Amino acid sequence: MAGNYTLTIIKPDAFGAGKAGKIIALLEEKGFRIRAARTMRMSTEQAGHFYEVHRARPFYGELVEFMTSGACMPLVLEKADAVSALRDAIGATDPADAAAGTVRKLYAESKGRNAIHASDSDDNAAREARFFFAECEWVTVG
Ligand code: CMP
Repeated sequence: MAGNYTLTIIKPDAFGAGKAGKIIALLEEKGFRIRAARTMRMSTEQAGHFYEVHRARPFYGELVEFMTSGACMPLVLEKADAVSALRDAIGATDPADAAAGTVRKLYAESKGRNAIHASDSDDNAAREARFFFAECEWVTVG
């Protein structure tokens, strides 16, 4: 059964442009509830570790550089079938392909600077939430 939690990051482009409030409002209007939130600037080591799965990809260096370029905002969100619901709400990786009304259509510039991250599976949501929120009830009891 699909889980009720997922992890998102409002990335440095959107956070730095002052769009965090609008993005959170959009997600809350779609029924997501915030279970944990923080602001931080990721270190190169943290970003490298978080995106470990993409290490062999040609955009890995660019991705780590971008994610460490400024503050970001990780959040744990709750909703039925959260992983799939959040991926629908944020839209395609490339904003040019994102559906109208999605976070990336509204706020992303490009495939690289794409405003927001969302976990792609329940297992990764748990792993990614633990990465940012060791103290979060969901990740410690689950
Ligand atoms: P995200 O959901 O954070 O997961 C991996 C990220 O890699 C993705 O969003 C994009 O920001 C980034 N990414 C994927 N493809 C490319 C690409 N072709 N060029 C630059 N960045 C990319």
